[in-house]
Amino acid sequence: MAERIYISDAGDHVGQEVSVQGWLYNKRSAGKLWFLLVRDGTGIIQSVVFKGNVNEALFQECEGITQESSVVVTGTVSEDKRSVGGFELQVSDLQVQQLAEEYPITPKEHGTTFLMDHRHLWLRSVKQNAILRIRHEIIRACRDFFDGRGFTLIDAPVFTPNACEGTTTLFETEYFGSKAYLTQSGQLYMESGAMAFGKVYCFGPTFRAEKSKTRRHLTEFWMIEPEVAYMDLDGDMDLAEDFVSHVVQTVLKNKQAELKAIERDTTALERVVKPFPRISYDEAVAILKKNNVEFEDGNDFGGTDETVISEAFDRPVMVHRYPAQIKAFYMKQDPEDESKALCVDVLAPEGYGEIIGGGQREDDLAVLQRKIKEHELPEEAFQWYLDLRRYGTVPHAGFGMGIERVVSWICGLSHLREAIPFPRLMHRLSP
Ligand code: 4AD
Ligand code: MG
Repeated sequence: MAERIYISDAGDHVGQEVSVQGWLYNKRSAGKLWFLLVRDGTGIIQSVVFKGNVNEALFQECEGITQESSVVVTGTVSEDKRSVGGFELQVSDLQVQQLAEEYPITPKEHGTTFLMDHRHLWLRSVKQNAILRIRHEIIRACRDFFDGRGFTLIDAPVFTPNACEGTTTLFETEYFGSKAYLTQSGQLYMESGAMAFGKVYCFGPTFRAEKSKTRRHLTEFWMIEPEVAYMDLDGDMDLAEDFVSHVVQTVLKNKQAELKAIERDTTALERVVKPFPRISYDEAVAILKKNNVEFEDGNDFGGTDETVISEAFDRPVMVHRYPAQIKAFYMKQDPEDESKALCVDVLAPEGYGEIIGGGQREDDLAVLQRKIKEHELPEEAFQWYLDLRRYGTVPHAGFGMGIERVVSWICGLSHLREAIPFPRLMHRLSP
């Protein structure tokens, strides 16, 4: 029996007879030869069927094998620089597990809606595969970063009684006769965690009923959220720039093949090293004015505004101290200018916009109670959160980074929907 290997390990088996379990990606014939491109999820290997090496029936069978049929191919590994992956299989045996029906995704161009309707199959394509491998690397780099700095992972609940990021994008669900919301952010729970463990983070799905149909919004997205006790806004920005540069540089180091497969020009990514420029909201507005962008002072930035601001820099830019009025209830006001919040948004280069939102939290009980009232939030549901200010309150800060925004930026995608295996959008709940 030939040893079963994964295609990515072919290089360790040159000269040996092995078997590969996979699917037929593509094929072509040339006289006495069949070239079967077989993929197994770890790579693609050209499998050469030579009429003189196999029995007649097997050679004939190649003619009928359809795209995405499941096949087990046995043969000897040889090195071949011209082949995909650099290795070939000289086939001695082949078994078809199942002859696939006519596969809907062919090498010709398909529209995005069609591909998204077939997302469960589209994941098999080289590019989608590379994007999701990069996503995995990004998530690993995020976890390694915090794990390596003494943070404790604290999982936040998905069902919550609280609105964290405003009441307009809440998904509400019936909860045994009362109502619950799907979490918009784990932040409030991380604040509790920070007071118990010092440095914590959570990583999980978050939900926003985004009715906007932009390329930057999903209704379900994954967020990583660190929170640190005794940290101020400056410390938060230090952490964010360390974090983002670590993630980008790790992907550049470990995922060159995948970045190449999606034809990503990585020049701009190589510049993502600290320090990142830090500018205030007012300075950002001045950049807009200088570029003749129509913008009303005091408003939040839209996607195009963010692009113009980030184009003034060669790496991510951190914009701090937005008007308190347009920001969430939990943000601490700047003691030097009460109209501003001690918050920060990190804007990615190349038009990718906000990847991180965070800042220093209001740590004063009375101020927080007033803010909850002003934002017309139900004080009852926030009693547990107010307890954190009643029992040993300290300055603290944190942020949230949307994984899909970062995948989209690092991979150079035109829409967030390809940055997650099964995207959820206003008009997409399937597959
Ligand atoms: O700026 P946001 O709303 O901040 C918070 O939720 C804070 N409570 C986080 C914290 O301080 N712990 O969201 C944070 C990030 C954004 O910068 C963006 O990357 C991402 O989450 N994000 C989305 N990603 C995809 N689709 C959406 N609809 C998103 N909304 C926010
Ligand atoms: Mg934000």
